[in-house]
Amino acid sequence: MTIMNKDVKKVLIDQETLQSRIKELGKEISKDYIAKDLLLICVLKGAVLFMADLAQNIEVPLEMDFMAISSYGNSTESSGVVRIVKDLETSIEGRDLLIVEDIVDSGLTLSYLSELLKGRGVRSLKICTLLEKPARKATDITIDYVGFQVPDEFVVGYGLDYAEKYRNLPYIGVLKEEVYQQNN
Ligand code: PRP
Ligand code: MN
Ligand code: MG
Repeated sequence: MTIMNKDVKKVLIDQETLQSRIKELGKEISKDYIAKDLLLICVLKGAVLFMADLAQNIEVPLEMDFMAISSYGNSTESSGVVRIVKDLETSIEGRDLLIVEDIVDSGLTLSYLSELLKGRGVRSLKICTLLEKPARKATDITIDYVGFQVPDEFVVGYGLDYAEKYRNLPYIGVLKEEVYQQNN
């Protein structure tokens, strides 16, 4: 049973659907990373719930690290200019990195981040995102693992926020227009 939040217009992906797709992704990743040196990179804060569930479904040895970045510009769309708020603690030279993201919208955050990390001498670098908005993709960045494609709506929950709220919802929902129109 999904407990609805009053600010959510509809549930786009329910908890069960999320979890079963994450299991599949975990299986696929486990197969691809046999005999590799897997390091999961969580892009804070949005990816934290997805990363926690995904990691529990990966059966090969792995390590985790966390990176916090912030994009300048207005709050609902990223500008492509990315500032590192918290860098990795692990040395990534010669390692097999998998960047874990909650959503690829324009793709600007990930294209910046993957170029930056490739420059540090990794052995391989792949990207796993829970959600992708195909209509909005402004870059030609390759995403290796995609959970779901979502329409161009204001989605929240399961890590995704609006003004830092709703990250704790166990499903992906669409926010009511009146919630973000009020604050603009
Ligand atoms: C969101 C989201 C992705 C990025 C996607 O993060 O979690 O990291 O934007 O946008 P893009 O593809 O257009 O670059 P946000 O900057 O809101 O930070 P957060 O994860 O802390 O919410
Ligand atoms: Mn993010
Ligand atoms: Mg955000």
